[in-house]
Amino acid sequence: MTDLLRINDLSVVFNTDAGHVRANRGINLNVNENETVGIMGESGCGKTVLFLSILHLQQPGRIASGSIMFDGRDLTRLSGNEMRYVRGRQIALVPQDHATALNPAYTVGQQLQEALNIRRNGGGFWAAARAWGQRKGSREEIKEVLDSLAMGDLVENGRLLGRYPHQLSGGIRQRVLIAMALLARARMLIADEPTTALDRASREQMLEVLKQLRGRVTMLIISHDLEAIHSTCDRVAIMYGGRIVETGYMLDVFNHPKHPYTKLFFSCQRFSRGDVLPDVTGDVLNLIDFPAGCSFHPCCPQASPICSEIDPAEIRMGNRTVACHLYRDSGGP
Ligand SMILES: Nc1ncnc2c1ncn2[C@@H]1O[C@H](COP(=O)(O)OP(=O)(O)O)[C@@H](O)[C@H]1O
Ligand SMILES: [Mg+2]
Repeated sequence: MTDLLRINDLSVVFNTDAGHVRANRGINLNVNENETVGIMGESGCGKTVLFLSILHLQQPGRIASGSIMFDGRDLTRLSGNEMRYVRGRQIALVPQDHATALNPAYTVGQQLQEALNIRRNGGGFWAAARAWGQRKGSREEIKEVLDSLAMGDLVENGRLLGRYPHQLSGGIRQRVLIAMALLARARMLIADEPTTALDRASREQMLEVLKQLRGRVTMLIISHDLEAIHSTCDRVAIMYGGRIVETGYMLDVFNHPKHPYTKLFFSCQRFSRGDVLPDVTGDVLNLIDFPAGCSFHPCCPQASPICSEIDPAEIRMGNRTVACHLYRDSGGP
């Protein structure tokens, strides 16, 4: 399998009056073509910063080190103009704040047409607006994609294409963003908390959409919703305190978590399925003053003296990686 995205040793820092917030620390992650990878972790662990950094949207944060290789090019080295070309055309985003992701001044139909034009001729918005409804095959293709995302009924009833984003529910706005990604044939889709802040029915529909896209599109799904990640992802990375502490195939990690944080996080989520994530550690880790050693050691039920002295390196164990001293020598218990 070839990887489409490979993040190497990425660190992202926010310089604030209170000090340097190290929101991402030495992140290593790869996503293979047509694979769906999930990133999980409690609120404040750095998931959204990672999501934004992939597309140079992390400002005022700064990429302090590392590389983000996408299809053989290092995104951290691209200019603003080059990144504008990558965003939407090559990597499509479904941000958590989807209310602002669509253009409020244009209808859904016009924006879907724009996505199609981008693929067909790299055309801009005005070309799309003029072409809307005239271009042979456009309506059919748009309708087909909307059907596949369970929005065909809305089109039939005249409740989608002529509407403006503010007239749509959050779940529909998200699915319109996914439709734009499919029409533009973006190489990769990255979604930040796609199932959060949705009513139950919309959440179920979003899960169905993600399951359906799995295997056909390369996806990175960022969420603290264990059920969403479990039901849609091939592999998963668990984040704590700005670091990835464990990665592996979803079922392996789910059935046999190795890192003590992953174990706690899963037990907490199973306990509170469907609810807001309870805080595993009592306090969200302060990303300015890290404790010496492993940042999880003050809360870790399996901590030993070395854990307060040395930050554990990421150990590879077959298809898994884990950053924990329990696995330092022989592959652990
Ligand atoms: N604009 C900012 N200025 C300073 N710190 C920030 C900023 N944005 C994010 N952070 C820091 O980065 C950490 C990670 O945030 P985020 O990636 O949004 O977490 P989450 O995992 O909940 O998505 C936060 O705890 C916060 O301290
Ligand atoms: Mg977030």
